[in-house]
Amino acid sequence: MAPLFLHSNTFSFFFTIFVSQVLLSLWHHSAAASCQTPPVIFNFGDSNSDTGGLAGHGYPIGLPNGRLFFRRSTGRLCDGRLLIDFLCQSLNTSLLSPYLDSLGGTRFQNGANFAIVGSSTLPKNVHFSLNIQIMQFLHFKSRSLELASSSNPLKGMFISEDGFRKALYMIDIGQNDIAHSFAKGSSYSQTVKLIPQIVAEIKTAIKRLYNEGGRRFWIHNTGPLGCLPQKLSMVKSRYLDQHGCLASYNAAAKLFNQRLDHMCEDLRIELRDANIIYVDIYTIKYSLIANSNNYGFGRPLMACCGYGGPPYNYNVNITCGHKGSNVCDKGSRFISWDGIHYTEIANAIVAMKVLSLHYSMPPTPFHFFCRR
Ligand SMILES: *[C@@H]1O[C@H](CO)[C@@H](O)[C@H](O)[C@H]1NC(C)=O
Ligand SMILES: *[C@@H]1O[C@H](CO)[C@@H](O)[C@H](O)[C@H]1NC(C)=O
Repeated sequence: MAPLFLHSNTFSFFFTIFVSQVLLSLWHHSAAASCQTPPVIFNFGDSNSDTGGLAGHGYPIGLPNGRLFFRRSTGRLCDGRLLIDFLCQSLNTSLLSPYLDSLGGTRFQNGANFAIVGSSTLPKNVHFSLNIQIMQFLHFKSRSLELASSSNPLKGMFISEDGFRKALYMIDIGQNDIAHSFAKGSSYSQTVKLIPQIVAEIKTAIKRLYNEGGRRFWIHNTGPLGCLPQKLSMVKSRYLDQHGCLASYNAAAKLFNQRLDHMCEDLRIELRDANIIYVDIYTIKYSLIANSNNYGFGRPLMACCGYGGPPYNYNVNITCGHKGSNVCDKGSRFISWDGIHYTEIANAIVAMKVLSLHYSMPPTPFHFFCRR
């Protein structure tokens, strides 16, 4: 694993030690748990797990995105790796290629990432809703099986029927459904009325993948939307909770998560031979913000990269990477990268907790999904 930060001062010395410990523990975890044969992974979602699919929109994303780990912009909205990258690394499998990045050296032997920035579940038929991502997957699957057919000399490069059956299917979506509703000016009660439909879309997606033979599902719930610097800087009427987050936004996120959890419970009864793991990302992220001092994060609600300075350093007209924006120094202690997405170090801590078994239902080690 490459070193995270290049330090120039003693101020961040203890933070460095802390970061090293987090990465060391991820590394040990990966050494202990890594797979003989890593699973094929398919991921669906929004920018929280988009590893470059935003190429499908043609958005230009440059440095400082990617500056810490990749040393160039990969299309990830982060200074380095995302949660999904750390999860892949914990299985010793290569990072997922985005389905829509045609120049990304399209290697899909270990799966594909259909997640794209801005995606939501509803409306159902706009690019790149969850439904469209599932349709892209179905297209991918039928082409792969065709190319994996016995007459093709390169057939080993494509995922077989067995690969699809034993693959791990990950979904991380819903944040934008709630965010878009509030952004349109809908009230809390109007927004939460949408939740059953949003969760129904995710249920439909899982059932479609199940009907295609998928049996292993890993579902992330949504994080504390009301703690994002972007929301905090743009929302006028505000009721803040004890940690300074927008209470109504977080309440909507929590209600969504409750429904999602119940839906997963129902599906475990309905689809008895499937493994459906629900992961409580909300609790992990909220406790990171609530206990930010213990982790060495100075300003949990301020973006590292943005414009405007404290308290949030976010301006909708001058976002990270755009002319006039500022960016914190490499050793700085920020949870939020650009006002919406988390920094690599925050993602590393989230990954460590996801892998700890304390936040997944039923508690399932991630290497459970290694091919056997
Ligand atoms: C991780 O994968 C690499 C190559 O893919 C392999 O050489 C190495 O032995 C693997 N490590 C473990 C611990 O499985
Ligand atoms: C962003 O630009 C718009 C249009 O020029 C302006 O009305 C708005 O006040 C700006 N917002 C901020 C936060 O500067």
